[in-house]
Amino acid sequence: MAMEIVPATAALGAEIRGLDLSKPLSDADVEALKEAWSDHIVLLFRGQKLTDDDLIRFSRLFGTLDIAPASATDYAGAQEKSRPEIWIISNVVENGKPIGALGDKEAEWHTDMSYVAEPPMASVLYSLEIPSKGGDTSFANMYKAYEALPADLKRAVEGRIVNHDSSTTSVGELRAGAGAVTDVRLAPGAKHPMVRTHPVTGGRALYLGRRLNAYVEGLELDESERLLDALWAHCAKPEFSWTHKWRVGDLLIWDNRAAIHRRDGFDGNERRVMHRTQIKGDRPR
Ligand code: SIN
Repeated sequence: MAMEIVPATAALGAEIRGLDLSKPLSDADVEALKEAWSDHIVLLFRGQKLTDDDLIRFSRLFGTLDIAPASATDYAGAQEKSRPEIWIISNVVENGKPIGALGDKEAEWHTDMSYVAEPPMASVLYSLEIPSKGGDTSFANMYKAYEALPADLKRAVEGRIVNHDSSTTSVGELRAGAGAVTDVRLAPGAKHPMVRTHPVTGGRALYLGRRLNAYVEGLELDESERLLDALWAHCAKPEFSWTHKWRVGDLLIWDNRAAIHRRDGFDGNERRVMHRTQIKGDRPR
């Protein structure tokens, strides 16, 4: 069956039909996928039956893999130790220990691991178990958000650097070993340009990381807060976004250089188990 690309929304996202990712893909299919990924930022594949090794092999078509975030070590005994590239995202508790990260709470808009100097360019997320409702994942197109900025905000972000706090996860929990941030100007993390140029497409995209504990270098604290609030309100507009409702066997790959994402909370009495890989990126410029 030939590969088919079905756009999800005008903002971003496309479903790829006709590929079985547990099997090796032809060079032509890989090239077509990379082109579709550049065009649509997030790709969805439904109905996959993948082992962790399949997930890793597929992810490696796009680049070298990063190991899972440091917080993976919080879930001692649960992390796939033989495959440190896999990060388990789950609310399931076994033998009194969570088997993965992020629990059942809402995860705020963010870019994966942007608190490191060279954040992963992409993430791949594969669903093994999903709740009957909730836990949807939304994506927003940061090229479009940048292009649509009002002139005053476009001027305000030009040449600015933002600190991406490393202390707190996207569900608001402190990472292992981190202290609570009492002054965002001193928050740990990585400093990146607020607007980055995509190394493949050449497009300019807002690159904000996450709202919590962010700080715009060189501004007074209240100016930084005002600017960040205005930018995040703008980025969260529905016209830039697409929400994915998961089914078991769905795989998503998204480009962290051009999209932010968030996840809805869900009923903690139900199970959600996802396996994620991270594809190495370079320093945002
Ligand atoms: C993530 O932020 O990578 C998790 C998204 C999700 O659990 O749907």
